[in-house]
Amino acid sequence: MIFTVAIDGPAAAGKGTVGRAVAAHFGFAHLDTGLLYRAVGALVLKGAEPVAAARGLVPEALEQPGLRSPEVAQAASEVAVIPEVRAALLDFQRGFARREGGAVLDGRDIGTVICPEAEAKLFVTASAEARAGRRLAELIEAGLDASFDGVLADVRARDRRDSERAEAPMRPAEDAYVLDTSDLSIEDAVAKAVARVAARRPA
Ligand code: DC
Repeated sequence: MIFTVAIDGPAAAGKGTVGRAVAAHFGFAHLDTGLLYRAVGALVLKGAEPVAAARGLVPEALEQPGLRSPEVAQAASEVAVIPEVRAALLDFQRGFARREGGAVLDGRDIGTVICPEAEAKLFVTASAEARAGRRLAELIEAGLDASFDGVLADVRARDRRDSERAEAPMRPAEDAYVLDTSDLSIEDAVAKAVARVAARRPA
């Protein structure tokens, strides 16, 4: 059975949480595609050339420490505007999407570019303020020093770069179900996503 769930949306809207929960519910594999861009960004921060880093990316690179840091997030967003970087990561993502047994991919361009034929598409979003509040709580939890205004500025800068770039900009696919999680609990957001995916599955 080939069945792809494409989950797109901005940073800290809940894509990862929803994606993992949907994958667990249906027994599908899950790929956080942001990690691919983060791994390239982290290598660039260590001095690598972006296109070479993307072409030579090995699975172990996704396990480097520090991929969740704000510095790596910004570096990821910067390398993500380079068409050759995106092209280098395409085949791996397409192969993952169409693997046997079902797959959930979350990112920015899964439903529009990577897998336009995905059987279910969700665009998970939330207000910039709600997302900054969640990201701040995560950073504080991880023992990092951060302020709400600083995190909100980062969220807005990344949204702008991700949605205004020429290549594969972040936007909902025409046939995506838009799930705004600003005022939803995690449980409610997951329940809505699962219901939507279930409705797309053949009986
Ligand atoms: O989802 P994330 O915050 O881990 O993503 C990090 C950056 O990678 C994000 O700012 C944009 C980029 N990205 C992308 O361009 N396309 C994807 N499919 C996933 C992430």
